[in-house]
Amino acid sequence: MLAIIGGSGLTQLANLDVTRREVVRTPYGEPSGPLTFGRLAGRDLVFIARHGYGHTIAPHRVNYRANISALRGVGVARIVSVASVGGIRADLGPGTLVVPDQIIDYTWGRHSTFFDGHDGQVKHIDFTDPYDAALRRALLDAAARAGEQVVDGAVYAATQGPRLETAAEINRLEGDGAHVVGMTGMPEAVLAREAGLAYAAINVVVNHAAGRGDSLHGIEMSAIEDMLQEAMTRVRRLLEALCANGECA
Ligand code: HPA
Repeated sequence: MLAIIGGSGLTQLANLDVTRREVVRTPYGEPSGPLTFGRLAGRDLVFIARHGYGHTIAPHRVNYRANISALRGVGVARIVSVASVGGIRADLGPGTLVVPDQIIDYTWGRHSTFFDGHDGQVKHIDFTDPYDAALRRALLDAAARAGEQVVDGAVYAATQGPRLETAAEINRLEGDGAHVVGMTGMPEAVLAREAGLAYAAINVVVNHAAGRGDSLHGIEMSAIEDMLQEAMTRVRRLLEALCANGECA
């Protein structure tokens, strides 16, 4: 079964026929909220709101391990993450949808592994390509069928938040090779990999990153809100096209 982890602006899937909600407990504590089971385009899937259904959990406080563990526990094999980002590369302006292919992790102090040695085992996983190739392909194909333009490939920088970055920090990220910046992509992606789940992301660019474009002298929060609403409608259409093709089951 496929799971969708919804970020800011996607605390619910309006086009999801909800069948039930389930509170799941995990060895890592509480997930961000109950899992929502439902049908999209006639196919079963599970949805969870990363920041909680009332959007109350900050990026650095999300219990990523509990979310991934809960999804695996109910039989999820593939996860599509939806997350808003700031655009660093000039052509990735507000409204752009991106399916990233790489990650640079700048987060700190988060529980970022299931393999922390407590069971006496140290495990190292391959993370050369952090996103699942087949699931990325499925997202890109679904976008094409839905008539939604998406950018194939970008380097996602995961920052700690919850504050946005300084202009100098964005310059540094760009120097490092990052194209978009968000706060929740890690450790979510690596935990999915450790758990053996296929994981890919849809990033929604909601603002130019700090010091870029119309964010040259600051980032307008109300503009982000408006962009989120508009872009998430397109994300929902893309997800519906994904499921209509039998990719959710
Ligand atoms: N920086 C970090 N995370 C974000 C941004 C940003 O500019 N926009 C949306 N999420």
